[in-house]
Amino acid sequence: MLILGIETSCDETAAALVDDGNVLSNVIASQIDLHARFGGIVPEVASRKHVEAIGYVIRETFDSAGERPAAVDAVAVTCRYGLIGSLIVGVSAAKAMAYALKVPLIGIHHIEGHIFANILSHPGLPLPHVCLTVSGGHTMLIHVEEPGRYQVLGGTLDDAAGEAFDKIAKFLGLSFPGGPAIERLALAGDGAAISLPRPLGRSRTADFSFSGLKTAVVNMCQGRDRGSLPLADIAAGFQEAVVDVLVSKTLQAARRLGVTAVSVTGGVSINARLREVFSEACPRHGLQVFFPRPDLCTDNAAMVAAAGAVRLRQGEESGLDLNAVPNAPLESIKCPAKRC
Ligand code: KG4
Ligand code: ZN
Repeated sequence: MLILGIETSCDETAAALVDDGNVLSNVIASQIDLHARFGGIVPEVASRKHVEAIGYVIRETFDSAGERPAAVDAVAVTCRYGLIGSLIVGVSAAKAMAYALKVPLIGIHHIEGHIFANILSHPGLPLPHVCLTVSGGHTMLIHVEEPGRYQVLGGTLDDAAGEAFDKIAKFLGLSFPGGPAIERLALAGDGAAISLPRPLGRSRTADFSFSGLKTAVVNMCQGRDRGSLPLADIAAGFQEAVVDVLVSKTLQAARRLGVTAVSVTGGVSINARLREVFSEACPRHGLQVFFPRPDLCTDNAAMVAAAGAVRLRQGEESGLDLNAVPNAPLESIKCPAKRC
């Protein structure tokens, strides 16, 4: 089944063609340069840029795959969870494509897309497993019972992990997005030189909180001359604290549920220190760990197409009245006919 995926939930205009798990094309037009001067994503600017880019991105997707629109069997689009103005652009484009091509349309929750970034990257990924989805807009632990069946275990009570990276980077005078900037600076620092809190690190919940950690960094720097601050040690200590909490919470959930594997996905999952600590800790606990291939870590439409294929096969379909919803819970496939 050849699926056209469309994703515009935040600041990436993305379209992809996925054919039965094979990614034929995965085009991503990033707006990072546009937002960098503001030190964060400006929603109104993001949606306007999506309008300009979406047509070109869809065309490029067909050109780079060497496919014709007439070959498409269905259109999948991110319609839930994200910036409302951004989501609307993708949903409108997807409706137009589905209507013109006379093929089914399926709306996908953005977090389900991130879960599929790993399923698409590793066809043998064990099920059930625990998925940590961690990016600029979300930090969530999910029990993936099977593709399309999920139990949300916990999420952030305040900032997402990537958001904390971005805010601390801005505070330290680093570039946007903050994750890569902190990771680069941390290479020259000592992660143990500065003691920072591990918020909710000892609690038994699967929830996260990063605002206290952010405040701890700000308080530590206050009243001190900027030139005298050990910036590399601060970056390394902050990164170490975030990684520590993400890894320990994920392992705790995996042990509690008795799964044999964990997957990590979303923009922060590209972080080398996060990958290193997960890769060291998981085998010690009898767990396998999986990360998406690099082009599927950040927001992309291939993961959306892959999620759409599973839902369509289970008989789900959206109407042309599909709406964009900025904040909606992640839901499992509704009582598929085969299972009821
Ligand atoms: O998945 P994504 O592209 O968009 C959202 O859905 O938010 O994730 C973007 C986030 C940003 O907060 C960015 O700072 C973070 O991912 N990020 C990183 C790294 N690269 C990107 N965080 C830590 N280390 C990195 N290398
Ligand atoms: Zn995302």
